[in-house]
Amino acid sequence: MKKNKTSQCILNALRDGQYHSGEALGNQFGVTRSAIWKAIKQLSAAGIEVQSITGKGYRIQGGIELLDQQAILKFLDPQTDTLLKDLMILDEIDSTNDYLLARAKSEPKQILACFAETQTKGKGRRGRHWTSPFGTNIYHSILWNFTKDPAELMGLSLAIAVAVIQALKKYGIEKDVGLKWPNDILWKNKKLSGVLVEMIARPHEDCSVVIGVGINTKMSNSQIKNINQPWTSIEEITSTKVQRNKLAGLLLNELIHALNQFQQHGLEPFLKQWKSYDLYCGKAVKLLMPDQEIHGIMQGISEKGELILLQKNNELRHFLSGEVSLRLEC
Ligand code: BTN
Repeated sequence: MKKNKTSQCILNALRDGQYHSGEALGNQFGVTRSAIWKAIKQLSAAGIEVQSITGKGYRIQGGIELLDQQAILKFLDPQTDTLLKDLMILDEIDSTNDYLLARAKSEPKQILACFAETQTKGKGRRGRHWTSPFGTNIYHSILWNFTKDPAELMGLSLAIAVAVIQALKKYGIEKDVGLKWPNDILWKNKKLSGVLVEMIARPHEDCSVVIGVGINTKMSNSQIKNINQPWTSIEEITSTKVQRNKLAGLLLNELIHALNQFQQHGLEPFLKQWKSYDLYCGKAVKLLMPDQEIHGIMQGISEKGELILLQKNNELRHFLSGEVSLRLEC
């Protein structure tokens, strides 16, 4: 839901996490208390949790750090900064991936990046929905043009997952972070971040790719209705208010580095690190495919980023796709 001017002003005022009375807000923005009440309802409808306490007023508990282009750009190295043609901060969008897929039609060779405060149709892997409440998590996409054949981009999403881990490390989250093939970033086995790579292959031409990354920074129980797997957030891990612009800037910087490196050397420079973060290597897993479920012991990944499973008959098999989960019974 789009916010009107009053609700935008109120959101700005409530960013500090302090209580603001309806009267004070009304005076500040020259509107009636009923207009303030309507605007607060609009913020709630947009997924922003505004607390209202009689006698104290309204507040957003813990405050909210809205995304800011300049604050994000500060974290880019000069070389990465010059590569980026544009960085957009979107208040509300269906999906940041879809936004850049559409932009790619007219600007296929540009490097464009965007962050959104909320997504109305956030997309996860395998057609799933990605919960995207306003002003809390990171929803990011980057459009990149590779002078490579689509077949050479097979391991790209694994390289991106390594880059996300690097960004988290630079933000200060190192312990207990790991990877579930191909690109799920977990903390203590709970999902912290996910990657969605979408390709725009044009016959006999370069290949453009939109890479989407979602990082959970803070979500309340009322915002997680649609999540059907264990999840966590940066706030849960660090127990401090998340610096969203810093995290966004570190992420963008690492992604641009990784994409450059992947363009030059493919998956090879990322393999060692990916393997060091592999949470399931040596474990009994099941691989869910559209038409079957395959059991085996995970043997890590191949040079191309394929999943390697040792099956009961001692046969080693490589897989390009599927959903891995731990098998408790052997
Ligand atoms: C997954 O299922 O793990 C992948 C989740 C990817 C979510 C991100 S949020 C930003 C970008 N836009 C989308 O619609 N999806 C990706």
